[in-house]
Amino acid sequence: MITLGTPKVFITYAIPEKGIEILKEKFEVDVYYGEDFLGKEELLKRAKSADAVITQLRDPIDAEFINNLERTKIIANYAVGYNNIDVEAATKKGIFVTHTPGVLTEATADIAFALILAVARRIVEADKFVREGNFVGWKPKLFLGYDLYGKTLGIIGMGRIGQAVARRALGFGMRIVYFNRHRLPEEIERQYNAEYVDLDSLIETSDFISIHTPLTKETYHLIDANRIAKMKSNAILINTARGPVVDEKALYEALKERKIAGAGFDVYENEPQLTPGLEKLDNVVLLPHIGSATYETRDRMSEMVALNVIYALEGKIPPNLVPE
Ligand code: DGY
Repeated sequence: MITLGTPKVFITYAIPEKGIEILKEKFEVDVYYGEDFLGKEELLKRAKSADAVITQLRDPIDAEFINNLERTKIIANYAVGYNNIDVEAATKKGIFVTHTPGVLTEATADIAFALILAVARRIVEADKFVREGNFVGWKPKLFLGYDLYGKTLGIIGMGRIGQAVARRALGFGMRIVYFNRHRLPEEIERQYNAEYVDLDSLIETSDFISIHTPLTKETYHLIDANRIAKMKSNAILINTARGPVVDEKALYEALKERKIAGAGFDVYENEPQLTPGLEKLDNVVLLPHIGSATYETRDRMSEMVALNVIYALEGKIPPNLVPE
């Protein structure tokens, strides 16, 4: 029963009802059900007096926002990535910041692999070709693409999602090299038959490159013009992590000039804006940030944010604090 003094949870954009229902059993819940995302001012107005705020990766939760919160104990991001939140400012104010690790690993790895296949085998182009009535029969050179079998997949960021991609790649008969902040224990390397290499060797030798690193000061433009220039001419780059890890303008130029074979995007440097011209290239597949967009995963994410909020509002340390 909601009584005076019942803690209030503000959800900045409607998440699946599963999580909302869990929260409604204990708290007063204010959900924004609009179509367009709220602007900073309106966000702050509604968050100001909330005991918990459930945020989306599009919400800019900066120091100014955080310092204006009056009683918030937790900011629970409905995403595994948390680059939209000034964690330092929140921590200084004693506010927990949580995210949703683990539950979206498989869905995101599936999308990375879907992009690998879609770009290598020109699935989107070929589908369009048939729909437009151009298919007049089998031809020896119709929509030639690239094999996955026997090729080298370079995984940048070998955390949960990177490893889930490696697991899929093994089934496709690919050779796996990886780059990570820390080398993985030998038994994990053995499990994926994965070889640890430095980033430049990975860039120079991989046929497919898949990015699975968070966006931090260190990973901003990790894939810059220099590194793009070192890629093989048949290289295909896949980004399902965060757009600004790649210098998108430099990548666009390389794709336009066919310096590399193709790219698959689920995320963009200035999301939702694309580098002008990208949408005209036929060697790219463009998705609208749907890495975790399955019914099952989004439900689990909503349960996870609800659980973290319950912990914080009941005076306990939430289970999914963001890493330091
Ligand atoms: C995340 O959770 O960080 C994804 O990018 C959203 O699906």
